[in-house]
Amino acid sequence: MKIRQILLFSAMSTMTFTTVNAQQSPLNPETEKKIDLLMSKMTLEEKVGQMNQYNGFWDVTGPAPVGGDAQNKYNNIKKGLVGSMLNVRGVKEVRTVQKIAVEQTRLGIPLIIGFDVIHGYKTLAPIPLAEAASWDLKAIEKSAEVAAAEAAASGINWTFAPMMDISRDARWGRNMEGAGEDPYLGAKIAAARVRGFQGDNTFRSPLRIAATAKHYAAYGFIESGLEYNIAQIDTNTLYNQVLPPFKAAVDQGIRSVMNSFNTVNGVPATADRYLLRDVLKGKWGFNGFVVSDWASIREMIPWGFSKDENEAAKSAVEAGTDMDMEGGIYVPYLTDLVKKGKVDQKYVDDAVRRILRVKYELGLFDDPYRFLDEKREKEVIGSKANLEAVLDVAKKSIVLLKNEKNILPLKKSGQKILLLGSLAASKNSPLGSWRIASDNNTAISVLEGMKAYKTSSVSYVEGPKLTLEEPTFLTEVKYNSTDFSGIEEAKKAAANADVVVMVLGEHGFSSGEARSRTDITLPGLQETFLKEIYNINPNIVLVLNNGRPLAISWAAEHIPAIVEAWQLGTQTGNAVASVLYGDYNPSGKLPMTFPRNVGQVPVYYNHYSTGRFNGDPNSVFWSHYSDAEKTPLFPFGYGLSYTTFSYSDLQLDKKNYQKNEPVQVSVTLKNTGNVSGKEVVQLYIHDEFASVVRPVRELKGFELVELKPGESRVLHFTLTGKELGFYNAQNEFIIEPGTFKVMIGGNSDANLTASFTLE
Ligand code: NOJ
Repeated sequence: MKIRQILLFSAMSTMTFTTVNAQQSPLNPETEKKIDLLMSKMTLEEKVGQMNQYNGFWDVTGPAPVGGDAQNKYNNIKKGLVGSMLNVRGVKEVRTVQKIAVEQTRLGIPLIIGFDVIHGYKTLAPIPLAEAASWDLKAIEKSAEVAAAEAAASGINWTFAPMMDISRDARWGRNMEGAGEDPYLGAKIAAARVRGFQGDNTFRSPLRIAATAKHYAAYGFIESGLEYNIAQIDTNTLYNQVLPPFKAAVDQGIRSVMNSFNTVNGVPATADRYLLRDVLKGKWGFNGFVVSDWASIREMIPWGFSKDENEAAKSAVEAGTDMDMEGGIYVPYLTDLVKKGKVDQKYVDDAVRRILRVKYELGLFDDPYRFLDEKREKEVIGSKANLEAVLDVAKKSIVLLKNEKNILPLKKSGQKILLLGSLAASKNSPLGSWRIASDNNTAISVLEGMKAYKTSSVSYVEGPKLTLEEPTFLTEVKYNSTDFSGIEEAKKAAANADVVVMVLGEHGFSSGEARSRTDITLPGLQETFLKEIYNINPNIVLVLNNGRPLAISWAAEHIPAIVEAWQLGTQTGNAVASVLYGDYNPSGKLPMTFPRNVGQVPVYYNHYSTGRFNGDPNSVFWSHYSDAEKTPLFPFGYGLSYTTFSYSDLQLDKKNYQKNEPVQVSVTLKNTGNVSGKEVVQLYIHDEFASVVRPVRELKGFELVELKPGESRVLHFTLTGKELGFYNAQNEFIIEPGTFKVMIGGNSDANLTASFTLE
């Protein structure tokens, strides 16, 4: 779908342009007529019923579901009081509820079935943060396509993904679900994921599903990384950092948006009329529907924003929240509010029209059972092709953080390799969080992956246990901090090994919703374990498992090789083994800055300068910490390869540009090592002086390039107003004249620099 953009330039000293979007996707007049006709037959109760979403019967992804037991829910579907269900899955189960809606209600309006398909359905891809580390938009799109196909084959029509919350706070558990800290990369990935889920937005294929941009907005900026908290956010950050991925998803044609649990500057996002009606549905022309987050309408009461259920219903619907997920608020209260004239019916009509539109687009009115085919379910879920696709993206997601003395890649024979750590043998943790439809213990463990390589010399010792009991999605992870037994056996084995591979980090359920942490070092006894082994045999490869940046300063200083392997899903062991043995040359780059310690958080590459950023180190009066360096441990965009690359010849086609002239940038990249490899070439800019202070650098282009040893290539980038402009204090997108710096390299510390002036 092409978006028409009209750029209006003013002739003032600053150039201002307003982006006016045509409809997000042209509305189909036939569909709109059908909606008119259907709505003319609907009672107010039936309309409000379309705005109600119930949880299903077994997967629970929030506190105490409303709506009673299954029988009660069936009865309400029959009465036309339910428009959607979540957490009902499998062709048989979905058919049961869909049949009630279609065959036993007065108007036969089908349900739309939603589910958290976050990084796969049964076949799991890496957690989304890991995938973002691939910077490979095709692979990311493919991964969402696989997830959509498996979910669709299981009767699901709508996923609550992708999450596109920009976050700079490693303490927040939900970093694992996003694409990291950068709005440019985040927007590209958001669009790729929407394409993967929705395809060309026609839904002609029964293997594509509607996607959800979540959580709108500023959820990644919740205070202290503490879940369900407030977000106090200035408009500069909101417009320039938080909103771009949402805008990109809307432009890509996304069909739904979920609001967030947090307040935005004092107003619950669920009732934020400005964000929902003015920006999303107004300025951006979004014509899908908005779903609340789980019970977020009801939670406005304990927030102290709504006095009671009536007020909550009124604020939410007037603001533009179209569907009530598990809040039990719209059905019992909204109808009456409209009847008594306290809420204008136009809000209900608008919400229902949007919901019905997406149901029509999904083809549910033509054939409510089109997603329900047992044969397809069997064929698609867990297919060989899906397993291959997730293996591909898993390899691409791995980031090599350190590799001294070429300890990696490992030798396929003639080397005694010892594998240590509970996580090395775990078939559960590598699946990561948010994988409710998949079966426990179905990942290929690192141990299995390594053994499958033709080498007789891998042995395994667990060492001190990671957790005291196996965690679940619904329980806290309890790390072992008392039982150090197992260390002696591990030490003995380490003394005899040529290389020790230690798989350490967080359990997969340590990140995700409600998994905020104040300590982001290796949890439990793992750092002590690492140090004890290091004293016996320092030839260690540390394989990290985590769903957020970790503070691993000691390891970064002492351990010769570190591989960031996140939680890579079903194919974890195969992906890790192929990188450790050198069959896949790692190419991932960090999508989030790694801090030295938790006290530095939030720490991010696109920060501001301050008036005393690089002060005189002999004076104390400059922006610094007294007890630690302020630079991060690993910067955004960082990642090594088994080969090396050099950058040279950064060129601009001119020195001075007129206001709407494109800036052409070129640079030469050379593979200077001995093996083929891929590099993510990153382009950053800095607007030197502006009416609003600008970040020290901002990513504005990247390209994933593969080169053979000795090969070089000239790469071209174009910068236009889109990349050079920013939202000012009045929330207008402007491009200011002045001097810009361009920096290109393999991470956000890129130091090959050129400058140009915009007249
Ligand atoms: C709450 C989460 O915040 C949201 O992301 C998810 O989609 C819903 N629960 C449904 O499980």
